[in-house]
Amino acid sequence: MTQGMFVKKTGPAFSAEALLEWYDRHARSLPWRVMPAARRAGEKPDPYRVWLSEIMLQQTTIVAARDYFLDFTRRWPSVADLAAAPLDDVLARWAGLGYYARARNLHAAAKVVTEKLGGVFPETSAELETLPGIGPYTAAAIAAICHDERVPVIDGNVERVLSRVLRLENPPREAKPELRKVLAGIVPERAGDFAQALMDLGATLCAPRSTACALCPLQPDCAATDLPDPTVYPRKPEKAERPTRRGHAYVLIRNDGAIWLVQRPDKGLLAKMTGVPVSEWAAASGAPDYPVAGDWRKAGEVVHVFTHFRLELAVWVLGDAPDPAGKGWWSPPGQLGDEALPSVFRKVLASALA
Ligand code: ADE
Repeated sequence: MTQGMFVKKTGPAFSAEALLEWYDRHARSLPWRVMPAARRAGEKPDPYRVWLSEIMLQQTTIVAARDYFLDFTRRWPSVADLAAAPLDDVLARWAGLGYYARARNLHAAAKVVTEKLGGVFPETSAELETLPGIGPYTAAAIAAICHDERVPVIDGNVERVLSRVLRLENPPREAKPELRKVLAGIVPERAGDFAQALMDLGATLCAPRSTACALCPLQPDCAATDLPDPTVYPRKPEKAERPTRRGHAYVLIRNDGAIWLVQRPDKGLLAKMTGVPVSEWAAASGAPDYPVAGDWRKAGEVVHVFTHFRLELAVWVLGDAPDPAGKGWWSPPGQLGDEALPSVFRKVLASALA
């Protein structure tokens, strides 16, 4: 059997026209998006906003990204504003999204655009890819959405839709070259709307665990729609084992409710972000090694899944805590929300303060 594309017929794999007609009626209204009618009337999306949204959407859902996006653009309405912000402020506002290298790259790219490119983002995907943190996907997305460059834009949503329409027997990672080829032959003049339409379709009618084929503009061309369960596509890759690491987290609470926070080391996971004191994270956690002596109480366990490992932290709490040795600061209760606390530490504090 041929691995890969299931060719139903000759000609384009599906109708870009049908997809665009659907998008004209059903495009989701998103704060960074120029809706199709306005786009056709000549309004162009702001590359700064599109770039920011794409970087955020690599980390989280549309619903969560929307709040972060509105917060960022209120604080930093232009790329020059973002470039002028202290990196620590950017990291603090990014806190919760995870993968902080993205926030550092975001800031670095804003500086390049502002200081070297006169505040103007490059227009082509090839040039965009030279900026920090902009990979092939993001470059293609920005160039297509902002300038209608006719490039394939393939995110997880698009992989899913095409895996179903074409009934690809290989998991998306392996099928990607083929996907790219098929899509490159279809991208129409309205390349930006086309890319966003496929993403919207993947987020709504052709979702990971459910499909609404009867409403789908691609149904006439779709090889999976007649299956009892179209969601068996995309084919799943063999799962790599994710190791578990274990450790202890220590929450010191002063008698006025302030919490002792520390800056994490300059290198490694969550570098320079804010956290509470922790032990080493290893296959076995060993006994707790408290940062100060006292009547420590175990508040619970927190589990957090990072890209490359799963972390289990035992959460220890000490009330009426004294100043511990070493660098750090007391954060009053009302100020915790403004600290650059990654999600794992927010979970730790939620467990400690429950
Ligand atoms: N997901 C990532 N980028 C998107 C976009 N521009 N529109 C809709 N969903 C997206």
